[in-house]
Amino acid sequence: MTTEPPNLAAERPYDTNRSDYLDRVAATFGDYKRRSIEFCKLATGERILDVGCGTGQDAVMMAGYVGPSGRVTGIDREASLIAEAQAADDTVDFLVGDVMTLPFDDGLYDCTRADRVFQHLTAPVAALAEMVRVTAVGGRIVVIDVDWDTFVIDASNTELTRRIIRFANDCQACGWAGRQLYGLFHDASLAEVEAYGDSIVVTDLQVTLQLLGLSYFLAEACRASAVTEEEAAAWMAELEQRDTAGRFFAGISGYCVRGQRKD
Ligand SMILES: C[S@@+](CC[C@H](N)C(=O)[O-])C[C@H]1O[C@@H](n2cnc3c(N)ncnc32)[C@H](O)[C@@H]1O
Repeated sequence: MTTEPPNLAAERPYDTNRSDYLDRVAATFGDYKRRSIEFCKLATGERILDVGCGTGQDAVMMAGYVGPSGRVTGIDREASLIAEAQAADDTVDFLVGDVMTLPFDDGLYDCTRADRVFQHLTAPVAALAEMVRVTAVGGRIVVIDVDWDTFVIDASNTELTRRIIRFANDCQACGWAGRQLYGLFHDASLAEVEAYGDSIVVTDLQVTLQLLGLSYFLAEACRASAVTEEEAAAWMAELEQRDTAGRFFAGISGYCVRGQRKD
C-alpha cells in the first residue's frame, strides 16, 4: 500500500517567537515555568530582570513574588511582543532591547533570568556576560533552556527518528543550550552554580506537531533532503496510528541553572 505524503507545506510556519505560540506554551507547559521561577528564590522588594520576556507572562508572575515594593522589568528584542506585554500589564516595566547590549547600569538587578532564549543565540557567552554585568554582586542569574537533542518520539524506525531529531536540533541557533548552561555559568566565574533538569511529556500528536514544531522540522527536513517525502509520509502514518490508539509518546528535556555574581 502506498501512503500519500503529508501536505507539509500547508502547515503553519513554526515560529517560537510568535505571541500565540508563546501563550500556548505557557498554558500547556506552565508547570516548568513555575518551578524555574521558584528556583530564582525571589524575595519581597527585589529588582528582577526577565531577558527575552516575550509576551511578559513570566515577568508578571515574578512581580507577584517581589510585591509592590519590588520591581520587575521585561526586555525583548521583538517590539510587537513588548507592545502586547505592555497592553496586558502595567505593573511591570516592559521595553524593547537586545540581551547582547542591555540598556541598564551595572549591578542594577537582584535576579536576572532568561527562559528559552539561549537556544536562539549565536553568542551565548557574551549574552550571559551581559546578564551578569547588570546583576548586583551577590545577586542570582537563572537561565532555563531546552536541549533539542533530548527530543524523544516513540516510533519503530529508530534510524529515521534519530535523523529527524538531529535535524530539528540543527535547525536551532544553539540546540544544545540546555546542556551547555552549567559549563557556561562556571566559565562566567559565577558562584554557587546549581542545576536541575525538567522534562515535559506529550501524548498528543497535534501538540507535538504544533508546539514542539514537529510539522515544521519534518517539512524542513524534506526540503533539505535529509528525509525523503516517502519516509516522512510513512513515519507520520505510524505516528497517527499510535495517536489514534492512544499510545503516542513524545517528550523533551530542559535544564535550569542558577549562579551568583561574585564580584
Ligand atoms: C521562545 S521565546 C521565549 C519567550 C519567553 N521567555 C517565554 O518563556 O515565554 C524566545 C524569546 O527570546 C527573544 N529573543 C531572542 N533573541 C533575543 C535577543 N538577542 N535579545 C532579546 N530577546 C531575544 C525572542 O524575541 C523571544 O521573545
